[in-house]
Amino acid sequence: MRGKRIAVLAAAIALVSGGSTADAIVGGTPAQVADTPWVVAITTADGQLICGGALVAPDKVVTAAHCVTNKGVIGGDQRLPQQLRVVAGRTDLRVKNEGLDAPVAGVWRHPDYREVTRGDDVAVLTLASTLPYRSIPLGEADDDGVVLGYGRTAENSAPSMTLRKVTVPVLSDRECARKEPDYRPGAMLCAGRGGRDACTGDSGGPLVVRGRLAGVVSFGRGCARADEPGVYTRLAHYRPVLGF
Ligand code: ARG
Repeated sequence: MRGKRIAVLAAAIALVSGGSTADAIVGGTPAQVADTPWVVAITTADGQLICGGALVAPDKVVTAAHCVTNKGVIGGDQRLPQQLRVVAGRTDLRVKNEGLDAPVAGVWRHPDYREVTRGDDVAVLTLASTLPYRSIPLGEADDDGVVLGYGRTAENSAPSMTLRKVTVPVLSDRECARKEPDYRPGAMLCAGRGGRDACTGDSGGPLVVRGRLAGVVSFGRGCARADEPGVYTRLAHYRPVLGF
């Protein structure tokens, strides 16, 4: 419900402010998977982009809980492993012979996840086999970060489908709580400033701080708007439940 109200509000603000904001991820530049081999895309079985993710072990991908939840189903049930694919080693998702597609053997969704703005927006996919790409360790959000993804380059654009990245400032819990009423200090983090942000399709993807995976793209009001930082799942908070 809450999510829907935000979407409606976002649409209204977009109209009032004269449409979409800024450009590209938003405000970013092209990236190469060779430089960040742990970046993955999560797609449907027929190759539609659902979300981003990150390899944290040769057979484990961290993503967002809302990426593995079927929308429009009462209670928001979990997607089945056979409905998901992990695509790794592919800078341009349209180049199907680049990198590898991995079937998913298991989906773990945070047991407390209810809807995206309430947090606990984290999930782990177990792959049916290992992938030959470097994984990324978890870390703290104690500096500026880089967010990567294949998603939209503007609020109303189509997904980029090629990997992009942007450097974003990580704000303090106090600032985030002031800007985002649903903010949960300690369990979320917020990052970005007008013109630089993740956007739709980047969900589940990595926020990297000092070479470690610090956050998972979770939600935002529109994309890259002035005074509307993107909200991320703060992974350090979930270390005990993730067990790695
Ligand atoms: N929830 C969106 C998705 O499903 C991404 C939200 C990120 N938005 C933002 N402005 N940081 O892809």
